[in-house]
Amino acid sequence: MNAPRPGHGYDEVMTPSGQPLLTARGVSKHFGGVVALDDVSLDVFGGEVHALMGENGAGKSTLGKVLAGALPPTAARLTIDGKPVSIRNPLDAQRLGVTIIFQELDLFAHLSIAENIAIGNLRYQERFAVSYRAMAQFARPALSRVGLSELSPHTPVHSLSVAQQQLVAIARALSMNARVIVFDESTSALTDEAVERLFAVIDQLRRDGVACLYVTHKMDEVFRICDRITVLRDGRYVGTRPAKQTDMAELVRMMIGHDVRSDAHAAACATDRPLLSINNLRTAGLRDVSLQVAAGEVVGLAGLVGAGRGEVGRALFGLDPILGGQMTLKGQPYRPHTPRQAMKRGVALLPRDRKAEGLMMQMSVRENASIAVLDSLNNLGWIRRRREAQQTDHVGRQTRLKAAAPQAVVSSLSGGNQQKVLIGRWLLREADLYFLDDPTRGVDIGAKEDIYAIIEDLARRGKAVLMVSSELPELLRCCDRVVVLNEGRVAADFDARRTTQEQVLTHATSAAAGHARPQAG
Ligand SMILES: Nc1ncnc2c1ncn2[C@@H]1O[C@H](COP(=O)(O)OP(=O)(O)OP(=O)(O)O)[C@@H](O)[C@H]1O
Ligand SMILES: [Mg+2]
Repeated sequence: MNAPRPGHGYDEVMTPSGQPLLTARGVSKHFGGVVALDDVSLDVFGGEVHALMGENGAGKSTLGKVLAGALPPTAARLTIDGKPVSIRNPLDAQRLGVTIIFQELDLFAHLSIAENIAIGNLRYQERFAVSYRAMAQFARPALSRVGLSELSPHTPVHSLSVAQQQLVAIARALSMNARVIVFDESTSALTDEAVERLFAVIDQLRRDGVACLYVTHKMDEVFRICDRITVLRDGRYVGTRPAKQTDMAELVRMMIGHDVRSDAHAAACATDRPLLSINNLRTAGLRDVSLQVAAGEVVGLAGLVGAGRGEVGRALFGLDPILGGQMTLKGQPYRPHTPRQAMKRGVALLPRDRKAEGLMMQMSVRENASIAVLDSLNNLGWIRRRREAQQTDHVGRQTRLKAAAPQAVVSSLSGGNQQKVLIGRWLLREADLYFLDDPTRGVDIGAKEDIYAIIEDLARRGKAVLMVSSELPELLRCCDRVVVLNEGRVAADFDARRTTQEQVLTHATSAAAGHARPQAG
């Protein structure tokens, strides 16, 4: 499927030359007093993967939504194939061949995969009558392209994992045979394997002459799959560079206006006071895990998907039953059965799946940020409101949250800033042991540094931190030690300052871990 349709004239176009497929000029978008986009221009060519980068709140999603008709712009002049067009709603966009895969997925949870793909899809409506069989038939080719062919198209979407839902959203966009596809942080919830598959799909789209506008915070992705990169800052256009003629340092300067120290390493604050000790722990997802974390120490958990990194957090937080082994916390036996018990003992968990964890989208930033500390706030009257305000301001400052006001509803924040509210919510909780599952996912490069500083601050205050990250350099940057898990066992325990990515990867991927347990560093 998706053979190049005749009449495009882009069959041979691999690099931008000739006429852009889509041009945008003078795009502005105001939300009340908030200027999300201010006179932005952009050209996208057929057969190019065009990255859109910028800090959280820079306006990337807003631009994507305007192009796909999901948000009416305050001002915009658009052309497709050189002809002026007006895109007032998603149907206009679909007719013109523009579609978006949203950062916050917009699937109907209670409908099936096939229904989600077929409903509202003009290509489906033009060709088929509404029947479940026809929908499934229509959905199948796109599902197989994203690697979901083993799933029945009749599966309800709410029973899928976040990663699978992301793939369904991508399949839906592919099934529209769009000529311009906006990917808004599409890999943030995907496993490495699914990311590879998505990149293969994007490569094929490029060869078919499709224009991909690819929003991401991940530098490695940009240099791997993108041809050109456009940077926005504070709603304004900063510049466009061919990927081959730029580098990370230049892009960072364009995004945040100054350099970041990429060779920095967290200060060593580890004490010799053991805070957490895990001995031969066994749960549904862990076969035999032993590790120690001292007060003031930051320990990273590395490993492949399924190696058991998140499961350590689940056991610590009373979410998974403990089937064997012992834990000791601050010198006392520790065996939590519920998150409430874990929290009482001074354990905090920043979960990986922040969506399920539930921001209340229609409540304010302030209310959302203070939820985790409500029990510690006086529940009545002005004392509570004042404390709430102080707490939120503190979190906002620590994470450099960009919101119009603490009273702003969370749904009006950019995706990365929503993440910051959640992270802040957990950091507000005064705990002794913090388990952080991918704390910088979806946040921009400047805010990452802020979060590193927060982690360092926790360590300096004598807290113990266990963290999981999808990015190895980040673990080596933030941690004192890196414990590598492999199939539910500890495969290695490294001093982060004297370890390379290759060493970690070798132990993460080698078979038969747990039989040999090298202790390095
Ligand atoms: N519905 C809305 N109401 C008010 N303000 C909004 C709304 N949607 C977006 N904004 C504001 O517009 C600005 C740009 O947001 P946008 O979502 O485009 O950022 P982004 O570049 O995608 O950031 P991120 O990397 O965090 O996803 C932000 O300041 C955001 O708070
Ligand atoms: Mg966004």
